[in-house]
Amino acid sequence: MNVLFTQQMIGNVELKNRFVHSATYEGMADPDGKVTEDLIKRYRLLAQGDVGLIIPGFMYIHPLGRAYKAPIGIHSNEMIEGLKNLVKAVHEFDSKIFFQLNHAGQQTSSADIGQTPLGPSSSVRDPINFFKPKQMNENEIKEAADAYVHAAERAVKAGADGVQVHCAHGYLINQFLSPFFNRRQDKWGGSSENRFRFLKQVIQAIQAKVPNDFCITVKLNTNDFTPKQGITPELAVEYAGMLKKLGIDMIEVSCGSSIFSYMNMCRGDVPVKEMVQSMPLWKKPVAWLMIQSLKGKYDLDEGYNIKAARAIKPVIGNIPLGIVGGMRTLDKMSQVITNQDADLISMCRPFIREPFIIKNFKENKKDKVSCISCNRCLAAVPNGFPIRCYNKDFPKKI
Ligand SMILES: Cc1cc2nc3c(=O)[nH]c(=O)nc-3n(C[C@H](O)[C@H](O)[C@H](O)COP(=O)(O)O)c2cc1C
Repeated sequence: MNVLFTQQMIGNVELKNRFVHSATYEGMADPDGKVTEDLIKRYRLLAQGDVGLIIPGFMYIHPLGRAYKAPIGIHSNEMIEGLKNLVKAVHEFDSKIFFQLNHAGQQTSSADIGQTPLGPSSSVRDPINFFKPKQMNENEIKEAADAYVHAAERAVKAGADGVQVHCAHGYLINQFLSPFFNRRQDKWGGSSENRFRFLKQVIQAIQAKVPNDFCITVKLNTNDFTPKQGITPELAVEYAGMLKKLGIDMIEVSCGSSIFSYMNMCRGDVPVKEMVQSMPLWKKPVAWLMIQSLKGKYDLDEGYNIKAARAIKPVIGNIPLGIVGGMRTLDKMSQVITNQDADLISMCRPFIREPFIIKNFKENKKDKVSCISCNRCLAAVPNGFPIRCYNKDFPKKI
Protein backbone atom coordinates (compact mmCIF):
# COMPACT_ATOMS: atom_id res chain seq x y z
CA MET A 1 0.00 0.00 0.00
CA ASN A 2 1.22 3.52 -0.78
CA VAL A 3 2.55 5.16 2.38
CA LEU A 4 0.15 8.09 1.76
CA PHE A 5 -2.75 5.82 2.59
CA THR A 6 -1.40 4.70 5.96
CA GLN A 7 -2.96 5.98 9.16
CA GLN A 8 -1.47 8.81 11.18
CA MET A 9 -2.15 9.86 14.75
CA ILE A 10 -2.34 13.54 15.70
CA GLY A 11 -2.49 13.48 19.48
CA ASN A 12 -5.33 11.05 20.16
CA VAL A 13 -7.00 11.61 16.81
CA GLU A 14 -6.48 8.97 14.15
CA LEU A 15 -6.44 10.05 10.50
CA LYS A 16 -7.23 7.43 7.87
CA ASN A 17 -4.54 8.76 5.50
CA ARG A 18 -1.85 11.44 5.21
CA PHE A 19 -3.88 14.02 3.28
CA VAL A 20 -4.93 17.35 4.74
CA HIS A 21 -7.15 20.05 3.26
CA SER A 22 -5.13 23.11 4.23
CA ALA A 23 -7.24 26.02 5.48
CA THR A 24 -8.82 27.84 2.55
CA TYR A 25 -10.83 31.04 2.99
CA GLU A 26 -14.09 30.42 1.14
CA GLY A 27 -15.96 33.76 1.14
CA MET A 28 -19.15 31.77 1.66
CA ALA A 29 -20.31 32.54 5.21
CA ASP A 30 -23.35 34.64 6.09
CA PRO A 31 -22.69 38.35 6.63
CA ASP A 32 -22.73 37.65 10.40
CA GLY A 33 -20.20 34.80 10.07
CA LYS A 34 -22.63 31.88 10.28
CA VAL A 35 -22.04 28.66 8.34
CA THR A 36 -24.14 28.42 5.16
CA GLU A 37 -25.45 25.45 3.17
CA ASP A 38 -22.80 26.17 0.49
CA LEU A 39 -20.07 25.71 3.08
CA ILE A 40 -21.56 22.46 4.30
CA LYS A 41 -21.84 21.21 0.72
CA ARG A 42 -18.18 22.08 0.06
CA TYR A 43 -16.84 20.23 3.07
CA ARG A 44 -19.18 17.26 2.72
CA LEU A 45 -17.82 16.79 -0.80
CA LEU A 46 -14.20 16.92 0.39
CA ALA A 47 -14.96 14.39 3.13
CA GLN A 48 -16.69 12.17 0.57
CA GLY A 49 -13.52 12.54 -1.50
CA ASP A 50 -11.55 10.81 1.28
CA VAL A 51 -9.50 13.73 2.66
CA GLY A 52 -8.12 12.52 6.02
CA LEU A 53 -8.16 15.88 7.80
CA ILE A 54 -10.14 18.94 6.77
CA ILE A 55 -9.24 22.42 7.98
CA PRO A 56 -11.86 24.90 6.70
CA GLY A 57 -10.93 28.52 5.98
CA PHE A 58 -9.79 30.70 8.86
CA MET A 59 -12.47 31.50 11.42
CA TYR A 60 -12.35 34.90 13.06
CA ILE A 61 -12.20 34.78 16.83
CA HIS A 62 -12.99 38.45 17.49
CA PRO A 63 -14.92 41.04 15.43
CA LEU A 64 -11.77 43.20 15.20
CA GLY A 65 -9.87 40.25 13.74
CA ARG A 66 -12.25 39.74 10.83
CA ALA A 67 -10.78 40.02 7.31
CA TYR A 68 -12.36 40.00 3.84
CA LYS A 69 -16.01 39.88 2.90
CA ALA A 70 -17.45 36.60 4.15
CA PRO A 71 -15.27 34.68 6.61
CA ILE A 72 -16.66 32.06 9.00
CA GLY A 73 -17.02 33.36 12.57
CA ILE A 74 -16.24 31.57 15.81
CA HIS A 75 -16.36 34.79 17.82
CA SER A 76 -19.72 34.23 19.50
CA ASN A 77 -21.82 31.37 20.85
CA GLU A 78 -24.39 32.03 18.13
CA MET A 79 -21.97 30.46 15.65
CA ILE A 80 -21.92 27.07 17.40
CA GLU A 81 -25.07 25.59 15.86
CA GLY A 82 -23.85 26.13 12.28
CA LEU A 83 -20.37 24.88 13.15
CA LYS A 84 -21.95 21.70 14.55
CA ASN A 85 -23.58 21.05 11.17
CA LEU A 86 -20.24 21.54 9.43
CA VAL A 87 -18.59 18.99 11.74
CA LYS A 88 -21.44 16.54 11.26
CA ALA A 89 -21.13 16.67 7.47
CA VAL A 90 -17.40 15.90 7.64
CA HIS A 91 -17.70 13.17 10.28
CA GLU A 92 -20.34 11.36 8.21
CA PHE A 93 -17.51 10.22 5.91
CA ASP A 94 -14.96 9.40 8.59
CA SER A 95 -12.80 12.48 7.96
CA LYS A 96 -11.55 14.59 10.86
CA ILE A 97 -11.94 18.35 11.17
CA PHE A 98 -9.87 21.06 12.88
CA PHE A 99 -10.96 24.72 13.01
CA GLN A 100 -8.36 27.33 12.13
CA LEU A 101 -8.53 30.13 14.70
CA ASN A 102 -7.54 33.53 13.41
CA HIS A 103 -7.30 37.18 14.34
CA ALA A 104 -6.20 39.20 11.31
CA GLY A 105 -4.46 41.89 13.39
CA GLN A 106 -3.31 44.56 10.96
CA GLN A 107 -4.13 42.42 7.93
CA THR A 108 -7.69 43.64 7.78
CA SER A 109 -9.05 47.04 6.88
CA SER A 110 -11.18 49.70 8.53
CA ALA A 111 -13.77 48.97 5.81
CA ASP A 112 -14.03 45.42 7.19
CA ILE A 113 -14.03 46.21 10.93
CA GLY A 114 -15.10 49.86 11.24
CA GLN A 115 -11.93 51.13 12.94
CA THR A 116 -8.15 51.21 12.55
CA PRO A 117 -6.87 47.64 12.68
CA LEU A 118 -4.79 46.51 15.65
CA GLY A 119 -1.24 45.19 15.58
CA PRO A 120 1.61 44.54 18.00
CA SER A 121 3.26 47.76 16.78
CA SER A 122 2.14 50.73 14.76
CA SER A 123 5.30 50.95 12.64
CA VAL A 124 4.48 48.99 9.51
CA ARG A 125 2.26 50.70 6.94
CA ASP A 126 -0.18 48.51 5.01
CA PRO A 127 1.02 48.73 1.39
CA ILE A 128 -2.46 48.14 -0.05
CA ASN A 129 -4.72 50.21 2.20
CA PHE A 130 -2.00 52.69 3.27
CA PHE A 131 -2.81 52.81 7.01
CA LYS A 132 -0.61 52.14 10.02
CA PRO A 133 -2.22 49.90 12.65
CA LYS A 134 -2.92 50.93 16.22
CA GLN A 135 -0.41 49.42 18.66
CA MET A 136 -2.27 47.09 21.01
CA ASN A 137 -2.32 48.01 24.69
CA GLU A 138 -2.31 45.46 27.55
CA ASN A 139 -6.12 45.28 27.65
CA GLU A 140 -6.36 44.71 23.91
CA ILE A 141 -3.70 41.99 24.07
CA LYS A 142 -5.58 40.24 26.88
CA GLU A 143 -8.89 40.56 25.07
CA ALA A 144 -7.41 39.00 21.91
CA ALA A 145 -5.75 36.15 23.85
CA ASP A 146 -9.04 35.43 25.69
CA ALA A 147 -10.88 35.42 22.37
CA TYR A 148 -8.67 32.56 21.08
CA VAL A 149 -9.52 30.54 24.19
CA HIS A 150 -13.28 31.18 23.94
CA ALA A 151 -13.11 30.23 20.27
CA ALA A 152 -11.36 26.94 21.12
CA GLU A 153 -14.08 26.20 23.70
CA ARG A 154 -16.69 26.80 20.99
CA ALA A 155 -14.80 24.41 18.70
CA VAL A 156 -15.09 21.75 21.42
CA LYS A 157 -18.83 22.44 21.78
CA ALA A 158 -19.28 22.16 18.01
CA GLY A 159 -17.66 18.71 18.08
CA ALA A 160 -14.48 19.55 16.13
CA ASP A 161 -11.52 17.21 16.60
CA GLY A 162 -9.09 20.04 17.19
CA VAL A 163 -8.00 23.57 16.40
CA GLN A 164 -5.21 25.02 14.34
CA VAL A 165 -3.94 28.30 15.76
CA HIS A 166 -3.08 30.41 12.70
CA CYS A 167 0.46 31.71 13.20
CA ALA A 168 1.28 32.14 9.51
CA HIS A 169 0.60 34.40 6.51
CA GLY A 170 1.06 37.68 8.35
CA TYR A 171 -1.98 37.53 10.67
CA LEU A 172 -1.94 38.65 14.31
CA ILE A 173 0.11 35.85 15.89
CA ASN A 174 2.55 35.89 12.95
CA GLN A 175 2.80 39.66 13.57
CA PHE A 176 3.72 39.06 17.23
CA LEU A 177 6.31 36.42 16.22
CA SER A 178 7.92 38.51 13.48
CA PRO A 179 10.64 41.12 14.15
CA PHE A 180 9.39 42.93 11.03
CA PHE A 181 5.88 43.57 12.40
CA ASN A 182 6.69 43.47 16.12
CA ARG A 183 8.95 46.37 17.10
CA ARG A 184 8.00 46.38 20.79
CA GLN A 185 10.60 46.62 23.51
CA ASP A 186 8.33 45.53 26.38
CA LYS A 187 7.62 41.95 27.49
CA TRP A 188 5.93 41.25 24.10
CA GLY A 189 8.92 42.07 21.88
CA GLY A 190 12.66 42.63 21.57
CA SER A 191 13.71 38.94 21.77
CA SER A 192 12.39 35.68 20.33
CA GLU A 193 11.18 34.60 23.81
CA ASN A 194 9.24 37.84 24.18
CA ARG A 195 7.78 37.70 20.69
CA PHE A 196 6.71 34.10 21.39
CA ARG A 197 5.01 35.09 24.67
CA PHE A 198 1.61 35.93 23.13
CA LEU A 199 1.38 32.55 21.34
CA LYS A 200 2.60 30.74 24.46
CA GLN A 201 -0.12 32.35 26.58
CA VAL A 202 -2.77 31.52 23.99
CA ILE A 203 -1.72 27.85 23.77
CA GLN A 204 -1.37 27.35 27.51
CA ALA A 205 -4.74 28.98 28.17
CA ILE A 206 -6.40 26.77 25.53
CA GLN A 207 -4.71 23.67 27.00
CA ALA A 208 -6.17 24.54 30.41
CA LYS A 209 -9.72 24.72 29.04
CA VAL A 210 -10.17 21.92 26.48
CA PRO A 211 -10.41 18.14 27.04
CA ASN A 212 -7.12 16.18 26.87
CA ASP A 213 -7.99 14.40 23.64
CA PHE A 214 -8.76 17.64 21.78
CA CYS A 215 -5.91 18.50 19.38
CA ILE A 216 -4.14 21.85 19.56
CA THR A 217 -2.04 22.51 16.48
CA VAL A 218 -0.30 25.42 14.78
CA LYS A 219 0.26 26.69 11.22
CA LEU A 220 3.70 28.28 11.30
CA ASN A 221 5.53 30.45 8.80
CA THR A 222 9.04 29.29 8.02
CA ASN A 223 9.79 32.48 6.12
CA ASP A 224 7.73 35.68 6.14
CA PHE A 225 9.37 37.13 3.02
CA THR A 226 8.62 40.64 4.30
CA PRO A 227 10.54 43.71 3.00
CA LYS A 228 12.71 43.62 6.13
CA GLN A 229 13.61 40.50 8.09
CA GLY A 230 10.67 38.78 9.72
CA ILE A 231 10.53 35.08 10.53
CA THR A 232 13.48 33.37 8.84
CA PRO A 233 13.97 29.59 8.52
CA GLU A 234 16.36 29.73 11.51
CA LEU A 235 13.88 31.61 13.68
CA ALA A 236 11.12 29.20 12.63
CA VAL A 237 13.26 26.30 13.87
CA GLU A 238 13.66 28.10 17.22
CA TYR A 239 9.89 28.66 17.48
CA ALA A 240 9.23 25.03 16.53
CA GLY A 241 11.41 23.95 19.47
CA MET A 242 9.41 26.23 21.79
CA LEU A 243 6.14 24.76 20.45
CA LYS A 244 7.39 21.24 21.11
CA LYS A 245 8.10 22.19 24.73
CA LEU A 246 4.52 23.42 25.03
CA GLY A 247 3.31 19.97 23.99
CA ILE A 248 1.32 20.90 20.91
CA ASP A 249 -0.03 18.09 18.71
CA MET A 250 1.03 19.05 15.19
CA ILE A 251 2.68 21.80 13.14
CA GLU A 252 1.88 22.65 9.53
CA VAL A 253 4.56 24.72 7.78
CA SER A 254 3.90 27.46 5.26
CA CYS A 255 5.39 30.83 4.26
CA GLY A 256 4.59 34.35 3.05
CA SER A 257 2.09 36.96 4.12
CA SER A 258 -1.27 37.82 2.57
CA ILE A 259 -0.36 41.48 2.18
CA PHE A 260 3.43 41.64 1.76
CA SER A 261 4.27 38.39 0.02
CA TYR A 262 1.17 36.58 -1.17
CA MET A 263 3.04 35.20 -4.18
CA ASN A 264 5.50 33.40 -1.91
CA MET A 265 2.51 31.87 -0.11
CA CYS A 266 0.83 30.79 -3.37
CA ARG A 267 3.55 30.30 -5.97
CA GLY A 268 2.33 30.08 -9.56
CA ASP A 269 1.01 32.51 -12.14
CA VAL A 270 0.26 36.15 -11.30
CA PRO A 271 -3.26 37.03 -12.54
CA VAL A 272 -2.70 40.80 -12.76
CA LYS A 273 -5.99 41.84 -14.40
CA GLU A 274 -8.06 39.75 -11.98
CA MET A 275 -6.13 40.93 -8.89
CA VAL A 276 -6.82 44.61 -9.57
CA GLN A 277 -10.33 44.16 -11.00
CA SER A 278 -12.37 45.61 -8.14
CA MET A 279 -9.84 48.17 -6.89
CA PRO A 280 -10.94 51.81 -7.03
CA LEU A 281 -9.84 53.49 -10.28
CA TRP A 282 -7.27 55.72 -8.54
CA LYS A 283 -5.44 52.69 -7.15
CA LYS A 284 -5.43 50.59 -10.30
CA PRO A 285 -2.48 51.99 -12.32
CA VAL A 286 0.09 51.72 -9.52
CA ALA A 287 -1.28 48.37 -8.32
CA TRP A 288 -1.20 47.07 -11.90
CA LEU A 289 2.48 48.02 -12.28
CA MET A 290 3.41 46.56 -8.90
CA ILE A 291 1.62 43.26 -9.52
CA GLN A 292 2.78 43.05 -13.15
CA SER A 293 6.40 43.30 -11.92
CA LEU A 294 5.89 40.01 -10.01
CA LYS A 295 5.04 38.04 -13.16
CA GLY A 296 7.40 35.19 -13.93
CA LYS A 297 9.18 35.44 -10.58
CA TYR A 298 7.09 32.94 -8.63
CA ASP A 299 6.65 30.00 -10.96
CA LEU A 300 5.51 26.91 -9.12
CA ASP A 301 8.38 24.96 -7.70
CA GLU A 302 6.94 21.66 -6.52
CA GLY A 303 6.88 21.37 -2.73
CA TYR A 304 8.42 24.79 -2.12
CA ASN A 305 8.31 24.39 1.67
CA ILE A 306 10.04 21.00 1.79
CA LYS A 307 13.46 22.42 2.60
CA ALA A 308 12.01 24.33 5.54
CA ALA A 309 10.16 21.22 6.74
CA ARG A 310 13.43 19.27 6.67
CA ALA A 311 14.97 21.75 9.09
CA ILE A 312 12.01 21.61 11.47
CA LYS A 313 11.32 17.88 11.58
CA PRO A 314 14.40 16.89 13.64
CA VAL A 315 13.59 19.58 16.22
CA ILE A 316 10.03 18.42 16.85
CA GLY A 317 10.76 14.67 16.73
CA ASN A 318 7.56 12.62 16.92
CA ILE A 319 5.17 15.57 16.73
CA PRO A 320 3.51 15.23 13.30
CA LEU A 321 4.58 17.77 10.71
CA GLY A 322 2.38 18.84 7.80
CA ILE A 323 3.68 20.54 4.72
CA VAL A 324 1.72 22.81 2.38
CA GLY A 325 2.78 24.67 -0.76
CA GLY A 326 2.82 23.36 -4.30
CA MET A 327 2.42 19.64 -3.56
CA ARG A 328 1.24 18.35 -6.92
CA THR A 329 2.37 14.81 -7.79
CA LEU A 330 1.85 11.52 -6.04
CA ASP A 331 5.53 10.69 -6.48
CA LYS A 332 6.72 13.81 -4.70
CA MET A 333 4.16 13.36 -1.93
CA SER A 334 5.19 9.75 -1.28
CA GLN A 335 8.84 10.79 -1.32
CA VAL A 336 8.25 13.45 1.36
CA ILE A 337 6.67 10.87 3.68
CA THR A 338 9.17 8.10 2.90
CA ASN A 339 12.11 10.47 3.48
CA GLN A 340 10.48 11.57 6.75
CA ASP A 341 10.67 15.22 5.72
CA ALA A 342 7.06 15.48 6.94
CA ASP A 343 4.19 13.23 8.04
CA LEU A 344 1.24 14.89 6.33
CA ILE A 345 0.64 16.36 2.88
CA SER A 346 -1.54 19.48 2.83
CA MET A 347 -3.06 21.09 -0.22
CA CYS A 348 -5.28 24.09 -0.83
CA ARG A 349 -5.67 25.15 -4.49
CA PRO A 350 -5.82 21.59 -5.91
CA PHE A 351 -8.89 20.83 -3.76
CA ILE A 352 -10.67 23.94 -5.06
CA ARG A 353 -10.53 22.45 -8.52
CA GLU A 354 -10.94 18.76 -7.62
CA PRO A 355 -12.56 17.75 -4.35
CA PHE A 356 -12.11 14.08 -5.32
CA ILE A 357 -8.33 14.04 -5.90
CA ILE A 358 -7.60 11.71 -3.00
CA LYS A 359 -10.23 9.17 -3.99
CA ASN A 360 -8.84 9.28 -7.52
CA PHE A 361 -5.28 8.79 -6.23
CA LYS A 362 -6.46 5.84 -4.17
CA GLU A 363 -8.23 4.23 -7.10
CA ASN A 364 -5.16 4.74 -9.33
CA LYS A 365 -7.13 7.04 -11.63
CA LYS A 366 -4.57 9.86 -11.33
CA ASP A 367 -1.03 10.49 -10.23
CA LYS A 368 -1.02 14.27 -10.20
CA VAL A 369 -3.46 17.09 -9.52
CA SER A 370 -5.12 19.08 -12.32
CA CYS A 371 -4.65 22.50 -10.69
CA ILE A 372 -2.29 24.64 -12.77
CA SER A 373 -1.75 27.29 -10.04
CA CYS A 374 -3.21 30.06 -12.21
CA ASN A 375 -4.10 31.78 -8.91
CA ARG A 376 -7.45 33.08 -10.06
CA CYS A 377 -8.93 31.47 -6.93
CA LEU A 378 -6.58 33.71 -4.94
CA ALA A 379 -7.67 36.76 -6.97
CA ALA A 380 -11.29 35.94 -6.07
CA VAL A 381 -10.56 36.90 -2.44
CA PRO A 382 -9.92 40.67 -2.84
CA ASN A 383 -12.79 40.80 -5.35
CA GLY A 384 -15.19 39.40 -2.75
CA PHE A 385 -16.12 36.34 -4.84
CA PRO A 386 -16.77 32.96 -3.25
CA ILE A 387 -13.89 30.65 -4.09
CA ARG A 388 -14.09 28.10 -6.84
CA CYS A 389 -11.81 27.23 -9.73
CA TYR A 390 -11.96 30.33 -11.98
CA ASN A 391 -9.37 29.01 -14.44
CA LYS A 392 -11.76 29.14 -17.39
CA ASP A 393 -13.78 32.24 -16.52
CA PHE A 394 -13.37 35.10 -14.09
CA PRO A 395 -16.62 36.97 -13.48
CA LYS A 396 -16.95 40.75 -13.53
CA LYS A 397 -19.46 40.52 -10.70
CA ILE A 398 -21.10 37.76 -8.69
C1 LIG B 1 -8.16 31.15 -2.14
C2 LIG B 1 -7.17 30.88 -1.03
C3 LIG B 1 -7.58 31.01 0.28
C4 LIG B 1 -6.68 30.70 1.33
N1 LIG B 1 -7.12 30.78 2.62
C5 LIG B 1 -6.29 30.42 3.64
C6 LIG B 1 -6.77 30.38 4.98
O1 LIG B 1 -7.94 30.64 5.28
N2 LIG B 1 -5.88 30.02 5.93
C7 LIG B 1 -4.58 29.66 5.65
O2 LIG B 1 -3.83 29.33 6.56
N3 LIG B 1 -4.13 29.67 4.40
C8 LIG B 1 -4.94 30.02 3.38
N4 LIG B 1 -4.50 29.99 2.09
C9 LIG B 1 -3.13 29.47 1.83
C10 LIG B 1 -3.17 27.95 1.63
O3 LIG B 1 -3.63 27.26 2.76
C11 LIG B 1 -1.81 27.37 1.22
O4 LIG B 1 -0.91 27.66 2.27
C12 LIG B 1 -1.30 27.91 -0.11
O5 LIG B 1 -2.36 28.03 -1.05
C13 LIG B 1 -0.23 26.99 -0.75
O6 LIG B 1 -0.69 25.68 -0.91
P1 LIG B 1 -1.20 25.06 -2.32
O7 LIG B 1 -0.05 25.14 -3.28
O8 LIG B 1 -1.58 23.65 -2.00
O9 LIG B 1 -2.34 25.88 -2.80
C14 LIG B 1 -5.35 30.29 1.03
C15 LIG B 1 -4.94 30.19 -0.31
C16 LIG B 1 -5.84 30.46 -1.34
C17 LIG B 1 -5.39 30.28 -2.77
